[in-house]
Amino acid sequence: MDNTKCSCVNFYENDMTQFLLGDVFHPGGLELTARMARELGLNEKDLVLDVACGQGTTVNYLVQNFGCRALGIDLSEANLSTARSKAADQETKDRLTFRAGDAEQLPVEDKTCSVVISECAFCTFSDKNTAASEMFRVLRPGGRLGLSDMTVDQARLPLEMQTLLFHAACVADARTAGEYREILARSGFKGLKEIDCSETLLELTGNIRKRLLMAELAVKLKKMDLGEVDFEQGKKWLNMAEELIRTQVIGYVMLTGFKD
Ligand SMILES: C[S@@+](CC[C@H](N)C(=O)[O-])C[C@H]1O[C@@H](n2cnc3c(N)ncnc32)[C@H](O)[C@@H]1O
Repeated sequence: MDNTKCSCVNFYENDMTQFLLGDVFHPGGLELTARMARELGLNEKDLVLDVACGQGTTVNYLVQNFGCRALGIDLSEANLSTARSKAADQETKDRLTFRAGDAEQLPVEDKTCSVVISECAFCTFSDKNTAASEMFRVLRPGGRLGLSDMTVDQARLPLEMQTLLFHAACVADARTAGEYREILARSGFKGLKEIDCSETLLELTGNIRKRLLMAELAVKLKKMDLGEVDFEQGKKWLNMAEELIRTQVIGYVMLTGFKD
């Protein structure tokens, strides 16, 4: 695994990241996932592939609420192991599978899925054109695509955020909605539609701020051990991120399309 991918996997396996985000690693949480599922007309006939599924919270939710089957793929073995043990307790476990793999080389046969989704992850893929072509390859004709992702106007992103850490945190290599559409269209997707979901971002940063303060207190009271954490730096970055969201440098978008 190259350095960029490795740092991304490490970031989402990190205790502090997981404490701050909970078990859903994307803005808008499962409410936004449900909205995407409705946009895609998800139903019990579908086989859904979630590319970069994290701890599998989305696919678990989809099989339970939309009656579909689902396959979750991620590079992180640790998060997949959490995903598998959460799914094992559910009645729907027979309709859910997890596989380790890279979005740029999906371990899935051609034309096998009716729906491909990916939430807040496309922005982290190093080779976005290859990842989009892989999503296209595994979809059956008539299959639907749903992405939700960070958008960033890179020309206005502060230098301080153009680092490997902020690549993993979905910022440094995110693109504009228009650039995502171009990449997807080049891979063959048709009927591309976008919905601005930027309102989910300040809600997410608000939740992260509360959890950061809780963590700081718990560490001070020696109730929690998170290793070396610079809470002041964390708050500074959070303030910067909120300003960038308010000034529309950073946004969040849902994109849907299909393979004809
Ligand atoms: C922001 S998290 C989103 C996780 C999940 N989609 C969610 O919404 O909870 C990004 C995920 O992408 C995974 N990831 C990063 N690069 C990947 C790649 N090239 N192939 C597969 N997974 C990747 C990370 O391990 C992490 O779980």
